[in-house]
Amino acid sequence: MKKLEIITRPFKVEAVKEALAHLGIKGMTLTDVKGFGRQMGHKEVYRGAEYEVDFLPKVKMEVILDDSLVDQAIDAVIKAARTNRVGDGKIFVYPVENAVRIRTGESGDQAI
Ligand SMILES: Nc1ncnc2c1ncn2[C@@H]1O[C@H](COP(=O)(O)OP(=O)(O)OP(=O)(O)O)[C@@H](O)[C@H]1O
Ligand SMILES: [Mg+2]
Repeated sequence: MKKLEIITRPFKVEAVKEALAHLGIKGMTLTDVKGFGRQMGHKEVYRGAEYEVDFLPKVKMEVILDDSLVDQAIDAVIKAARTNRVGDGKIFVYPVENAVRIRTGESGDQAI
């Protein structure tokens, strides 16, 4: 199993969710976050302002999925979330050791 941590624009949440649901993904966690990338939160870097950093509102979507779905999920998220402008976000991929469904005690791929 892997975790995809998708940082995207707030208005893209619905599109990303739909794209992942289409792949059969059945659970997801969403958090409002603030962040910056290499433009440091500025559309342009002006002389004298290079070291000022602004946190911009983003959304973090976390989804645990089977290894076999990772490539498709990444492609689907890119398609859904890309605007071709700076700040489109990132996808971080992590290994997941286990998952447990609390109600039933099921674990591993049975629990996602
Ligand atoms: N290295 C990082 N570590 C943690 N979070 C990051 C990192 N890079 C980007 N993020 C998160 O992703 C959000 C969007 O980043 P962004 O798309 O601006 O990345 P970028 O590398 O500047 O790419 P681009 O040039 O396309 O803007 C940031 O606001 C931040 O929340
Ligand atoms: Mg950026």
